[in-house]
Amino acid sequence: MKILGIVGSTRKSETSGVHTLVRTVLDHTRYEYDLVALRGKTISGCIACLGCVKDNICKVKDDLAELREKIVEADAYVIGAPNYYSTLNAVTHAFVERWFQFRHQEGNLLWGKLAVAVGVGGTSGTYPANELEKFFLYNFIETVAKVAGQGAASCYSCGYGETCKVGIPTLLHGPGVKITEDMIPDVAKQPQTMQAAAEAGRLLGKRLREGHDRMSVTQAMQQKLMSMFEHSA
Ligand SMILES: Cc1cc2nc3c(=O)[nH]c(=O)nc-3n(C[C@H](O)[C@H](O)[C@H](O)COP(=O)(O)O)c2cc1C
Repeated sequence: MKILGIVGSTRKSETSGVHTLVRTVLDHTRYEYDLVALRGKTISGCIACLGCVKDNICKVKDDLAELREKIVEADAYVIGAPNYYSTLNAVTHAFVERWFQFRHQEGNLLWGKLAVAVGVGGTSGTYPANELEKFFLYNFIETVAKVAGQGAASCYSCGYGETCKVGIPTLLHGPGVKITEDMIPDVAKQPQTMQAAAEAGRLLGKRLREGHDRMSVTQAMQQKLMSMFEHSA
């Protein structure tokens, strides 16, 4: 079994809440894994050139090309992204947009696989976790668990956090806020979040060990996607 972990944060691993949670999920699956950080990679969004429709291989030449094989070979995914403007940050969005290449003709390269979606935000990580679940659904991948945590907004360390009127410290703690070390959110210090990440990893590992019928997962995800369309019509 191969699990591919993707950290969509643009921060260094030592300061990224997404990295902490994705690692924690992976460490609890009891499987070996490959962990890739998107930080520093150049990945454009899908350009709708349709170069991939014949062979399910994206023709855009950037840093996604070298990751294609890892994506295809993985049995499961643990993908995490920071909350930027209540959605995925750009590089993670571009990364999953380009999975369009797998959605043509037989299109069964990713169908029926399993995943965990992770999100971290200065207020909440729920939005990116939900967005990732949606992208998984488009590829008929089942999200077995979602993990969301609160991370440190840059406003705590930018130098203007105590006086900035639109920064997160003022929004969360009110005007005149005095920033202290213990008020800076850190997912590693949130027992419930860390437990949820560990539990998500255990669940993913259990599902992989039990074995699953990719075709029935695919059918269930197709139905879920269709009902999502019906409800949004
Ligand atoms: C451009 C930008 C936009 C952001 N927008 C939001 C937002 O809308 N909501 C939120 O909760 N956090 C927002 N944040 C804060 C990040 O989600 C937060 O810093 C998070 O901890 C980043 O995760 P990381 O440490 O793994 O990179 C934003 C940060 C940046 C740089």
